[in-house]
Amino acid sequence: MINMADKKAIAVLTSGGDAPGMNVAVRSVVRTAIAKGFTVYGVKEGYFGLVNDMFEELTLRSVSDIINRGGTFLRSARCLEFKEEWAMQQAIENCKKRNILGLVVIGGDGSFRGAKDLSERGLPAVGIPATIDNDISASEYSIGFDTAIDTVMEMADRVRDTSDSHLRCAVLEVMGRHAGWLALESGIAVGASAIVVAEVPFDFEKDIVEPFKKHIANGKQCFIVVVAEGVGGSTELAKKIEAATGIESRATILGHVQRGGSPTAKDRIIATKMGHYAVGLLEKRIGKRVVVMRENKITDLDIFEALSMKKPFDIESYNIAKEVNI
Ligand code: ADP
Ligand code: F6P
Repeated sequence: MINMADKKAIAVLTSGGDAPGMNVAVRSVVRTAIAKGFTVYGVKEGYFGLVNDMFEELTLRSVSDIINRGGTFLRSARCLEFKEEWAMQQAIENCKKRNILGLVVIGGDGSFRGAKDLSERGLPAVGIPATIDNDISASEYSIGFDTAIDTVMEMADRVRDTSDSHLRCAVLEVMGRHAGWLALESGIAVGASAIVVAEVPFDFEKDIVEPFKKHIANGKQCFIVVVAEGVGGSTELAKKIEAATGIESRATILGHVQRGGSPTAKDRIIATKMGHYAVGLLEKRIGKRVVVMRENKITDLDIFEALSMKKPFDIESYNIAKEVNI
């Protein structure tokens, strides 16, 4: 039996760009924590709500019917003042008065920096990686990535229908302001003839004009080029391709459609397991950690260590795409 006077609480928030599967992670945190005897608070609008006291007690039923919903019902925000000392102290005070012993932060690297700062000031926080960019160095996988690839694939297949009908080249710009992971993996999945990412040097003549001309000569009629948002310039690139190869070309910038949608099975399963794992750490009073996927297993790392890691780009997959998608 839990003595109510001793009853401890944990809090959960979502921060940074939303990602499909964030709701599933919150659901898992809430239900795991309740099963372990904690009171659970959801914090609205990320760190903004933590500073501005926007807490709401969550029950088992508060997280019903969200396993299939993209976005985050807790909402997310970017809160610049959170980097200031007074704001962090205010956030810690808001937690203390509710007997909150730890916080789960679902988001990306920026959000984890906030979690590290809180842990260093006495509020143990655990991060769960969630971003469609899959650019969290310490983790092989971030919640939302698989759903975003599927969305890009579905959209690209639609574009392919019309491109094929007009014998055109489709230039598709996908999200990833600072990372080309979504471009790489969706490029493989949609059979892109060229993938343009900031991580790999790109030569217009060598990577587009020469191979396109060669394959036009051997009968290829339709082409897809995937460009990462961080490289940008997809409208100009389409014009250049048309001028240099004679293939009529159109650019499509997919935009925020990629961030929405019902999470895939993979995202639901990983979000559930990571949420469960995070609460297990806080139950043992372990904070300043980030839950990660390494060698396909869910484990945890010190946040500081995680933030200082580098994720080498997957050049092997890039080269496979080059060889196969001709
Ligand atoms: P993501 O978590 O997806 O990388 P952001 O970089 O926008 O997204 O970060 C989300 C939020 O995390 C920011 O709005 C801010 O409140 C907090 N944050 C970001 N960087 C720091 C930092 N260096 N120190 C403390 N908090 C930070
Ligand atoms: O969440 C990551 C991301 O989707 C990036 O790929 C993209 O550049 C950025 O967020 C867009 O952010 P916002 O929705 O704030 O414009």
